[in-house]
Amino acid sequence: MKGVFITGTDTGVGKTLVATALIRQLQSTGQNVAGYKPVSAGCERVNGQFQNDDAQALLKVSPSVPNYEQINPIALEPAIAPHIAASEAGLTINLPSLVSGYGNLAAEHDCVVVEGAGGWRVPLNDHEGMDDLAVALDLPVLLVVGLRLGCINHSLLTVESIRARGLNLLGWVANHLSDSIPRSQENIDSLIARIDAPLLAELPYGDPPDIAEMALRFQLHRVL
Ligand SMILES: Nc1ncnc2c1ncn2[C@@H]1O[C@H](COP(=O)(O)OP(=O)(O)OP(=O)(O)O)[C@@H](O)[C@H]1O
Ligand SMILES: [Mg+2]
Repeated sequence: MKGVFITGTDTGVGKTLVATALIRQLQSTGQNVAGYKPVSAGCERVNGQFQNDDAQALLKVSPSVPNYEQINPIALEPAIAPHIAASEAGLTINLPSLVSGYGNLAAEHDCVVVEGAGGWRVPLNDHEGMDDLAVALDLPVLLVVGLRLGCINHSLLTVESIRARGLNLLGWVANHLSDSIPRSQENIDSLIARIDAPLLAELPYGDPPDIAEMALRFQLHRVL
């Protein structure tokens, strides 16, 4: 597989955790793999350049990529919706340039793991969103479900929209965002019964990244 697009039911649900674990898992099979965070919002200035934690984490597990901006071409300072941050910075996020950034990485790697920003339908400009970028990249999608109240609705809407855009849903990951989610197993069972794609991994609440790597190992090989 040339690439995978990681989306989530919301912001802060474990996309970066899953993306970095997946990259390392694929690398452990001998593949040359890089991460890509096309758009980030929530950056600090490092050596005169805005940088974001997620992209730094992806860069760290992508040793074959020399420059930060190859992993994260659009880095916006405030941690707000990207289209608003871009507009405040006087920028228009342009999908073809993000597709071309992906293409450059894909040309040099066996696989590129792309992390969205926020959830599936986050706007990027006045007319297009992260979902349009996934369509433009034509990548299979992996959905990270952050287990919390409301996640069933968010998951089902996201799955419906991914399918409506004609993309392949590889599967989903159930991520325990705390160790005290009420009825977590019932929530997972409800999603298994309603999502027509495999549950690829269940990540316990614990010390990242170790728990993610333990849980992802042996399971994603079913589809990757
Ligand atoms: N299973 C878990 N156990 C413990 N901590 C977790 C778990 N999953 C995620 N976290 C923590 O929750 C936070 C959010 O996770 P992460 O950054 O991977 O989410 P995200 O979906 O990538 O967020 P964003 O929308 O900002 O990109 C991080 O601090 C991460 O370490
Ligand atoms: Mg992230």
